[in-house]
Amino acid sequence: MTELKPVQSRRTFAIISHPDAGKTTLTEKLLLFGGAIREAGTVKGRKNSKHAMSDWMEIEKQRGISVTSSVLEFLYDGYHVNILDTPGHEDFSEDTYRTLTAADSATMLIDAAKGVEAQTKKLFKVCKMRGIPIFTFMNKLDRQGRDPFELMEELEELLGIRSYPMGWPIGMGQSFSGVYDRHNKKLELYNPDNPKEIDVIQLTGPDDPKLDEAIGDEGLVAQFREELELLDVAGDEFDLDLIKKGELTPIFFGSAISSFGVQTFLEHMLKLSPWPTPRESTKGIIDPLTHNKFSGFIFKIQANMNPAHRDRVAFLRITSGKFERGMQVKHVRLGKNLKLAQPTQFLAQSRSIVDEAHAGDIIGLFDPGTFRIGDTLVEGQEFEFDEMPHFSPEHFSAITVKEALKHKSFEKGLQQLTEEGAIQLFKTYNRFNEQQIVGVVGVLQFEVLEHRLKNEYHVDIQLERLPFSFARWVDGPEEEMNTFKKMQRNLVTDRDGRIVALFDNDFQMRTAIDKYPNIQFYENSFYK
Ligand code: G4P
Repeated sequence: MTELKPVQSRRTFAIISHPDAGKTTLTEKLLLFGGAIREAGTVKGRKNSKHAMSDWMEIEKQRGISVTSSVLEFLYDGYHVNILDTPGHEDFSEDTYRTLTAADSATMLIDAAKGVEAQTKKLFKVCKMRGIPIFTFMNKLDRQGRDPFELMEELEELLGIRSYPMGWPIGMGQSFSGVYDRHNKKLELYNPDNPKEIDVIQLTGPDDPKLDEAIGDEGLVAQFREELELLDVAGDEFDLDLIKKGELTPIFFGSAISSFGVQTFLEHMLKLSPWPTPRESTKGIIDPLTHNKFSGFIFKIQANMNPAHRDRVAFLRITSGKFERGMQVKHVRLGKNLKLAQPTQFLAQSRSIVDEAHAGDIIGLFDPGTFRIGDTLVEGQEFEFDEMPHFSPEHFSAITVKEALKHKSFEKGLQQLTEEGAIQLFKTYNRFNEQQIVGVVGVLQFEVLEHRLKNEYHVDIQLERLPFSFARWVDGPEEEMNTFKKMQRNLVTDRDGRIVALFDNDFQMRTAIDKYPNIQFYENSFYK
């Protein structure tokens, strides 16, 4: 690869998937290729005793799952790759969504036997909202899965995205023999007895007789050629512009557990995915290629990463320029100068002090309580990046403190956790008896909330689950909003005073939407 500017060599992406699709396995293989780890089993020891660096909370250890997302980085072929890890458990949190705002592209990992599953769908929506490129890896081809055409159809039907297979599998499960790389006309052969040994054969095209020789099964080869012809005739064309806009997803087939197809995926993905993209700010577009001054935003705050020291770490995504340890920056919201003294960078397992970082990189800043999600830090000209959206919570509880005397600590803890973005706090609107309501994206957050308030603030709380499943930020013409506010039940305000309507179910929500045609119902707070 020719020498690139630091920003051009950065690739920052998140892996989106449903639990069990193989995200940990794939991440591990990517890190192995990048030389960031030496043995498999280091990323997350679900069934063994090793724990990844993100498994810091007791609750995570007890359950053996990752509650919080972390950042992994490695070098590969001149690229500086940052993977934003997103929790894989079904009980994921708003953090998972927010992490996607720090990514420039996403890898969508799908279990080929299961197709598009619920959590992938939710995460995909956020990627779609941001218009970032999405690369699809169809996993577990070593097992019998669904027909690849059927999987492509599902992407279109359930996610509304067209696809372009970069490779095409020959057989599946018992008969899985390899994948043909349509771009490089290379055949990668799968050897079930020794899957790590991958033979690569350069072909002149799918009709090359070397293919018949290598596969040795007439029926399979005939089927493969037929399918490929169908793809060439009826499938979408390769279109990099559409890929960049997130309207066409390149598909790769493989088996993460056997490392099969992973390197090919990585190499194509790094070439096709964008370097750190321009971002909108209050002073216009900030393009890291032309804006040389440092800027970045906080997308995640995590308290007590190291239980031995009561630390709080703010994760900053660098959006332009170069970071140097000890540099002075402006905290725009507070109008204060800050010295970035001891930032940390995240490797597979350990945290290390970072001296220099560039646009696209993620650094962790020690946070004495100065940062909020969405804060912008800049050098030179002042501007702010767009507000970080809140996403519609799906679980709600009324929250009270058990001992009235601990009210102060309780409020402090709630504020802290709201600022971190672990929970969303609402207040009942226009009710005589004002009540605080906590909304979360994943139900596990209630447990995290209880645990953290008890351990960090010594407060016992009472949570009373409420029947709502949907929250919508509402906005519209004043007159209709006034009627809506008078007539609609279950209204609350968020911490910025915006009106949010809560609904028990989809039907109730549809009824309100039909009844107030001029009012907009938003799934996230990002509607200005
Ligand atoms: P997750 O992080 O997305 O939740 O998935 P993870 O990597 O933990 O993988 C979930 C299960 O799927 C694991 O099996 C893993 O070994 C398996 N898996 C991942 N990739 C492949 C693949 O390419 N082919 C096949 N056949 N299986 C794959 P497990 O039985 O739950 O755990 P383990 O005992 O294997 O660790």
